[in-house]
Amino acid sequence: MRVYFDYNATTPLAPEVVDTISQVSRDLFGNPSSIHHFGQQAKATIDDARSATASLINADPSEIVFVSGGTEADNFAIRGAAEALEPTGRRHLIASGIEHEAVLNTLRALARRGWRTTLLPVDQTGVVSADRLREAIDAETALVSVMHANNEIGTIQPVAALAAIAHEHGALLHTDAVQTAGKVPVDVRALGVDLLSLSAHKFNGPKGAGALWIKRGTRMQPTATGGKHERNRRAGTENVAAIAGLGVAAVLAARKMAPEAARVCALRDRLEAGILGNVPGTQVNGTREARVPNTTNISFERVEAESLLIALDLEGIAVSTGSACSSGTLEPSHVLKAMGLPSHRTQNSLRFSLGMFSTQEEVDRVVEVLPRLVEKLRGLTRRPVSA
Ligand SMILES: Cc1ncc(COP(=O)(O)O)c(C=O)c1O
Repeated sequence: MRVYFDYNATTPLAPEVVDTISQVSRDLFGNPSSIHHFGQQAKATIDDARSATASLINADPSEIVFVSGGTEADNFAIRGAAEALEPTGRRHLIASGIEHEAVLNTLRALARRGWRTTLLPVDQTGVVSADRLREAIDAETALVSVMHANNEIGTIQPVAALAAIAHEHGALLHTDAVQTAGKVPVDVRALGVDLLSLSAHKFNGPKGAGALWIKRGTRMQPTATGGKHERNRRAGTENVAAIAGLGVAAVLAARKMAPEAARVCALRDRLEAGILGNVPGTQVNGTREARVPNTTNISFERVEAESLLIALDLEGIAVSTGSACSSGTLEPSHVLKAMGLPSHRTQNSLRFSLGMFSTQEEVDRVVEVLPRLVEKLRGLTRRPVSA
């Protein structure tokens, strides 16, 4: 039995998405910018996907710009808004310290070009506080970027409150909704944001497809220049099949969202209770209240996370030590570090993330296997476990 509990890294394609991608790749090869029949068929396919993607986040289709995924959406949001606002004298950017590297490294790149940047601290709950934003924001702030939910610990951020503060100071608010879109309701109007990123492969769509939602009237400088695609906002011939796959994934996610979230949440809670109850010295990282339903991040006292991850993999169980981009290095998680957790927890934590094909049998298998593996790894060191 192989268990895949790494849905926050990526998800398997929904069967309907596979069918759509293969049908579009085979039959609708036209260039959507071409005026003839073949081009117009491809364009119509993109338009359908645009409506489905907009509907998933309560947006207008004209506000959706298709991009290559979450990383490009985050880059475009921050660089595009920053460049557009530069002439106004606003040269300050704010993000939380627990953002994905796509946001953090974009801020670092802009800092090297003279932008002032501030990272908001978080406490051990893993939630960004409105007070911290009030302290950091000023009349020069162009943009605030705070993710809707964190990819490592799953905590949902108070984006609507943060957007209100940003707007009081004339700044834009971008939210990276890569870990919420398709999993929980995301409503751009209710959130009150200006820019929102999403990525298809996090909700059973294909890799290499995503969208940046740009609120109508928001001034943006394109980051990819070229032809007039995507209403002059993102040049380059569209990846029609992947965009169609994104559209189908959006329709499926919207249709099944409430029951699927409840099902996955029950599995996650069973897994969490099973681990906390059967493995001494375990603790959940971050608040357990405002979280996406599919994620738990647990620290295992006196067990090096990488060793446990490998031991689980040998048992056919796939989990993660945090964001996939930083695995392969022994760097502690920047998210757990930003939360102020002590080093024995930043290096001893695993993320379990569930999704569409997860089952109770898989949960029970993990709960059965883990105590033995942890005990074995702890046997290699001497100190007793305190909890
Ligand atoms: C919160 C968050 N933002 C951005 C990304 C990057 O998305 P993509 O893999 O589509 O570039 C990820 C993926 O790990 C993510 O979890």
